[in-house]
Order: sequence, then C-alpha cells, then structure tokens
Amino acid sequence: MEMDKLVSLCKRRGFLFQSSEIYGGLNGFWDYGPMGVELKRNIKEAWWQDMVTGHDDLGTLPNAPSPYQMVGLDCTIILHPQVWKCSGHYDQFHDYMVDCKQTKKRYRHDQIEGRWVEAKDKKVFVTSASTGEEAEAEVEQKALKFFNLKKKYADQLNYDGGLICLTEIDDFSQVLGPDAKELGTLTEPREFNLMFKTFIGALGGEESAAFLRPETAQAIFVNFKNVCDSSRVRVPFGIAQIGKSFRNEITPRNFTFRSREFEQMEIEFFCHPDESQKWYQFWRERRFEWYIKMGLASDRLQLREHDPEELSHYSCGTADIEYAFPFLAEGDYGELEGIAHRGDFDLRSHTEGKLVREGDGFAVEKDEHGQPKYRGSGKDLTYRDMVTNEKFIPHVIEPSAGADRATLAFLCEAYTEEEVPDEKKGKSEVRTVLQLHPRIAPLKAAVFPLVNKDGMPEKAQEIYRTLKPHFNVFYDDKGAVGRRYRRQDEVGTPYCLTVDGQTLKDNTITIRDRDTLKQTRISVEEAVDAIREKINNA
Ligand code: GAP
Repeated sequence: MEMDKLVSLCKRRGFLFQSSEIYGGLNGFWDYGPMGVELKRNIKEAWWQDMVTGHDDLGTLPNAPSPYQMVGLDCTIILHPQVWKCSGHYDQFHDYMVDCKQTKKRYRHDQIEGRWVEAKDKKVFVTSASTGEEAEAEVEQKALKFFNLKKKYADQLNYDGGLICLTEIDDFSQVLGPDAKELGTLTEPREFNLMFKTFIGALGGEESAAFLRPETAQAIFVNFKNVCDSSRVRVPFGIAQIGKSFRNEITPRNFTFRSREFEQMEIEFFCHPDESQKWYQFWRERRFEWYIKMGLASDRLQLREHDPEELSHYSCGTADIEYAFPFLAEGDYGELEGIAHRGDFDLRSHTEGKLVREGDGFAVEKDEHGQPKYRGSGKDLTYRDMVTNEKFIPHVIEPSAGADRATLAFLCEAYTEEEVPDEKKGKSEVRTVLQLHPRIAPLKAAVFPLVNKDGMPEKAQEIYRTLKPHFNVFYDDKGAVGRRYRRQDEVGTPYCLTVDGQTLKDNTITIRDRDTLKQTRISVEEAVDAIREKINNA
C-alpha cells in the first residue's frame, strides 16, 4: 500500500486534517475529522471495554496467574512539578539533537542516516533525514550535486558501506548535513528535554513553571493510595487511563506516528513482587492478541523484547508490540505499544525521591551535599493486604499503548484496492475499501432508497430512524446506488441496507456486506438484531 494514497483518503473523507491548516499547519499536530473522531473513539472504547469495564474481576483468564481487578482513572494533564523530578523525566526525558549552522534546521541525532561516498579523491559522509530506499536515493542525488557530477556519471561515486546512523560518526567535519551544501555544518549533539513547559497563574516566574504530562502513567502512580483507600481493590489489580500526552518531538514525522500531542491508553498493573514475571508474560501476550483480534494481520505484527541497553531508566524488562507500517523501510517495524516491567521504581521514587541505578537495584540520587537530589512525597505508598496482612511495595507491569498509533495501524491495515467488474461499462474498475473491523468502523451501516420515488425515501428514512438509537448510521439518497456503495466502502461502513420495490411489498431490505459484496434479504423488523449479531460475531 502506498502511504500517500491513505493520506489523501484520510483528508478527502474526513479522517485526519493537519492542525491549523488554513494558517499553513502546525508540524506534529493533527485533527481528527468527522470519520476519524468516530474511528479513534471506537478504538479507545474497545480498549476500555475489553481491558476495564468488560473485564471479569472474578474469573481467571487463560494464562493469567490468578483473577485480577481493573479500575479506571481520569487525571489532569498538568501535575505538580515534583512528580516529573521524582519520575526522572525532568533530568532524563530527552533526545539528542544536532543543529545545522548553515540551514538553521534541527534534527534528531539518531534519525539521520548517511553513507560514506568517495569521488574526485575526496571522501565525505553524505546524509539524509529520510529512511530506507528514500534515504539511499537522496544520498545519491546529494552526492552528485556535491561532487558536481551529472546523473549519467553516477558510477563515479564509490560507496564505502551501506547506510549507517550519524550516531556512529565521531567527527562531523566531513559530514554533509541533510539539507546543507557545505561540509561540517552540523553541531555536536546536545540534550533536548521533550516536556512542554508552561506557567501556572499570572506571575509567570520559574516558581510557577509546570509541564504538560509526557505520559499518563505518573498520575496513576501518584493516585495509587487514593485508589487503594477508596475502591477496596486488592493486589493484583490494574488502573487504566486514556488521555492526552505531549512531547516536544524534535522531528515529528510519518503522518500521526510521531506527533507532539497524542493520546495514550495505559494500564499500571500492581502485583506481588514474587508474581511479577508471570504477570509480565501474561500482559505481553494479552495485549499482542488484542491487536490481532481487532484486525491487524499477525504477519505484520511482532513482539520484540528490548536488549538490556535499550531499556528505559526505570525498566527491568520491556517488550514492544510493533507493526510493519508501510512508510517504514522493508523489514522495519514501528512501536505500537510497550509492555514494561517497572518493578517498584515509581512507587518508591514518589515516596523517597528520584532513584538512580546502583548495582543491581536503585537508590535515592544525592546532590553535592549528600541530600536527596529531588525529594519524594514522603507518603507511605506501601500496600497492606487486607486478608494476609502482608506489607510490601507492589511491582508494576505497564502495558502502554498509543491511541493515535493504533488508529494509524488499523487504517494502514484496512486500506485495500481491488479490481471489481463494472457491468454497466463492461470492464473492471478499482474499488477502494477500508476493511476495518466492524467494531471500530466509524459508521456501522448506511441506509439507501434504491430510487427517490414510489415511497422508498420515506421507508428508508423510517429504517434509518429505527437504527440510529442503536448504531452510528448514515442516510444517503444522492447519486446512483453503485456510487453510494463506493462512498461507504471508502470509509469502511460494513453494512449497507437498501430499500427497493420489494420492500414496499413484503417489508424486507437487502443488506450488503462490505468485504464479500454479498447481498441477502432480511426483514425490516430484524435489522437491529442482524447488525448487532454481525458486529458481535466479526
Ligand atoms: N508510560 C510509558 C510510556 O509512555 P512510551 O513507549 O514512551 O512509554 C507509550 O509511550 C506509547 O505511546 C508508544 O508505544 C506509542 O504508541 C505512544 N507514543 C509515544 N510517543 C508518541 C508520539 N510522539 N506520537 C504518537 N504516539 C506516541
């Protein structure tokens, strides 16, 4: 699937628009249109239903070590600044950037790729900010320009090795920046904190500085005691939250994949330390299977365990659920969700103060006077089991998903073009269809009168009104019925109901399946149940 086709469909059919587009747009910010808002809401609702409200607190799921409870939270976007100091985000949540002194452009150090190229007795490292084949083509084009060679002399360029990341280059003096014309214009990499800063109240000084949350997780940890005291949950249990997070990404890219404002769907799952490895395995599998159940093909999905050097400062084990997004180079995968074993890092750091690694464990980080660098709340966040009376700090397993990345993956997976015969024109035509799982499709059904006469529009409107309290349904009487079907295929509507001459005689309608194109007749009375059954069984 070519990505530009999906991007164009998303704009044309109201899934995604660039934020503030009429003012030239804002890089890294996206708006969901009338179809997009329904799709994303349905994904979030399916997640909440499957993980939280629909979860059976009393039963044991396959591969779960025991039954467990689930509850939810909805917390603020701005938290006390001390939260980010103790969590490590204030000091450690950064990427490395390099600036180009010539073009004034800024890049993420680990996102620039390049190749060593030799020509005319000179060897330079030519870079590109793209990836894969695109980067290779760009490197060649830039190298030809740099060495002042015409395209037909491309064979005079001698490459020393394939594409490598700029992080592997120590000396930038022979580096040609992605948009530069001269060598050595890139600065040394510098740290750049990804949190958006703001000020609370009217004074505006450093004392009132605060940050927009870069993850929803921390608000769950700081409410751990409130939830335990108010809802009588017993370990093992999970707290879920869906909400906006903000990261001042240096180079937002790949449509909504890396945005500066996005939504997360996170669970912090609290368990006994002795059981944590079993729960870690359980959540890796449970979350992986959820994406497959919701329609992602298993051969484009993978579950990848992090290497020890990749682990975040808090994690003692992380696996990513990754999807082979079409905008990535062949064989590359992009993260959809991370499942991290966070140990007791967060509850301890919000009690004692910011922790750092020491030997095999963690200890409170000290300043030059031997005092805690950032003080914790001092509140006791240990847990006492109401039945066994055992007191301990629970370990945390965190399945952390991105709602926007999931939406993008479902869109990529669903986009299909197929040849179908056009009987009227006597040749085939291309049908564009979003084969979304019916549960997440923006519209569940569309209702059409075959023609705008003989009482058909009135009957179709009556059916539309019967269905509307149950599902998001669309009424369409504009243009030929074939074109109306195509319009619904493009936004992924799984079922189209058509009122025809026979409806007026026997109160039956045709129901057309988006994927098989099969049409069957059902009675008008059974329409609500028939659609519900089809969605439930999909
Ligand atoms: N609490 C852990 C945490 O936030 P993360 O891997 O940084 O972990 C979790 O983020 C998920 O949030 C990612 O797997 C991804 O789906 C989503 N996400 C992170 N940064 C994003 C961005 N800039 N744009 C869109 N989604 C993002």
